[in-house]
Amino acid sequence: MSNSTVIPWVVGNWKMNPMHADALKLVEEFKQLLQQNPIATDACYIGVAPTMLSLINIQTQLKNTTREIYTVAQDVSRVAGTGAYTGEVSAELLKDSGIGYVLIGHSERRELFCDQVDILKAKLKNALNAGLTVIYCVGESLEQREQGLAEQVVLQQICDMAAGVAAEQWQNIVIAYEPIWAIGTGKTASAADAQAMHAKIREGLNQITNLGSKIAILYGGSVKADNAVELAACPDINGALVGGASLNAHSFYQIANAFAQSK
Ligand code: PGA
Repeated sequence: MSNSTVIPWVVGNWKMNPMHADALKLVEEFKQLLQQNPIATDACYIGVAPTMLSLINIQTQLKNTTREIYTVAQDVSRVAGTGAYTGEVSAELLKDSGIGYVLIGHSERRELFCDQVDILKAKLKNALNAGLTVIYCVGESLEQREQGLAEQVVLQQICDMAAGVAAEQWQNIVIAYEPIWAIGTGKTASAADAQAMHAKIREGLNQITNLGSKIAILYGGSVKADNAVELAACPDINGALVGGASLNAHSFYQIANAFAQSK
């Protein structure tokens, strides 16, 4: 079921980029573009996910902007609260620093840092309990897609996530569908394939919660200024999680604008 009333989100996932001076420059350029050609806050939510190290700096730099831009953490600890956990940052510490948004389950975390289902469940629980809004990532590998398992894999990931979400917490959930084979490869899923998977995810969510039609489902994987308009036109694609192209202020602006104009 499509839903055109969902406000789109465009979130830049900076991953382990860029160096400090370049990050500041990127933000300044983006702010300037927004000042010249504003994108209304209720036309598109915009966020950036810098490294943990620069979250607060970037958040401060984004404060005096013509519109709100959310600062998003790229990850959160599976341990809650405070304590002797060297190197970890808990959901409560993020919240305490005014960070209200977090990515969980990005395929790079799943594949390279062993974020398995139980760990993701703990991270999700801690984030939601601390009152953070979670952008929860799902997506299949190329092998799974070639074996015809894409839908099954993605819907299982949705079910694993849903098991940890209480009825009143769905309002703090955003989904990002990111086929792993499309991340950083320059290969985007065709708009039709992406829409088909988004519709399946929507159907799955509708079976789980009556808020299913209100949940934003973002597409991620080689989203660029060139393909954003086509993706944004799809009824169940409610925004984008953007990696590489978010490191360029002009591309990121154009992607946000494409989604803001489309709905
Ligand atoms: P990409 O990354 O846009 O560089 O493919 C997307 C992501 O990993 O979130």
